[in-house]
Amino acid sequence: MLANTVPANTVSANTVPANTVPATPLLDPMPAAPVAPSLAAAQRRSADLEAAIRADPGRFRVLTGDRPTGRLHVGHLFGTLLNRVRLQRLGVDVMVLVADYQTITDRDSPDTLPTDVLGLIADYLAAGLDPDRCTIFAHSQIASLNQLMLPFLSLVSVAELSRNPTVKDESTSAGPMSALMFSYPVHQAADILFCQANLVPVGQDQLPHVEVTRAIARRFNERYAPGRPYFPVPDSLLSGAPLLLGVDGGKMSKSRRNAIALAASEDETARLIRGARTDDERVISYQPDRRPEVSNLVLLAALCLDQPPAEVAAGIGDGGAAALKRLLTEALNERLRPLRARRRELAADPGYLRQVLATGNQRARDIADRTLADVQSLMHTKY
Ligand code: TRP
Repeated sequence: MLANTVPANTVSANTVPANTVPATPLLDPMPAAPVAPSLAAAQRRSADLEAAIRADPGRFRVLTGDRPTGRLHVGHLFGTLLNRVRLQRLGVDVMVLVADYQTITDRDSPDTLPTDVLGLIADYLAAGLDPDRCTIFAHSQIASLNQLMLPFLSLVSVAELSRNPTVKDESTSAGPMSALMFSYPVHQAADILFCQANLVPVGQDQLPHVEVTRAIARRFNERYAPGRPYFPVPDSLLSGAPLLLGVDGGKMSKSRRNAIALAASEDETARLIRGARTDDERVISYQPDRRPEVSNLVLLAALCLDQPPAEVAAGIGDGGAAALKRLLTEALNERLRPLRARRRELAADPGYLRQVLATGNQRARDIADRTLADVQSLMHTKY
């Protein structure tokens, strides 16, 4: 379904069974920070949501996205990209955000942004996102989306933003935190609410951000649309995907050179895997807690081969780390071959990638303009 065929606000606050989190009292005095639901509760809720999606995918609009800071890697593919493609194929309306405003706080000169943005779109399309069925847009290009940030800022306190653990983690620069970085969770609320998204597929680290969005939606509704909630209170959708580590055993990250990029060549892939950290035990086993590095390589091979990790490990047995690495290199290069071929074609046609983005931006703009007009009516700022 095309995003612009969905009239604004068809996804209402009541399309998803109400969560058990009680409504936050109105402002003044500032309400206490929203309490992040426990991980277990979020996981249970995600399982219920999966059932609701299968029953009626048309009720859901998903908003999710990435910072354009470099090539996406296999962690993104198995962690989020394939999940987006799955939701798209189920018939969910998927909005994919290129979060370019979230790159300007940790880089001095974002002169690689145009290339990074087109590269990100190439990664998306190569992974299977279909521009005829989903909307890919860059939030810097959607003026009305950004204007929502002003009223939203009035709905949260400095104290509750200060407590957000993810903002602290995300602040990588050594210097003082900028006010923009500090207010990212509010900007993300604009990213999510401008299109009345009711489902936000995220990793665990983003749960506190979605909690801020939920608080803003509730407080806006209570203050400006009492009795007739305007914004849906969106749910996080935790993916069941396992967390992949980098080849050094640390967190896989675009910036740490420990990630296998989707765009990497087969040789580059082989080289990275050859240098991957393992341990001294001869027999290969899948024991993530005891042998994180070896188990991570087994897991990646298992994802590529679509087999249980324990089975993959048993198949290698006493072949040792060398056999594991050979198997993984072959499985990963084979798994990525069609995706990489498609990515090369896409990367060779930047005009097409720009056109995909322009079309997505226009759809997002139409939706954002309608939302801002509604918000201005509700706030009595229309003259
Ligand atoms: N912060 C997210 C990241 O680092 C990107 C992002 C920006 C996002 N706005 C969002 C994700 C809204 C989900 C919803 O990857």
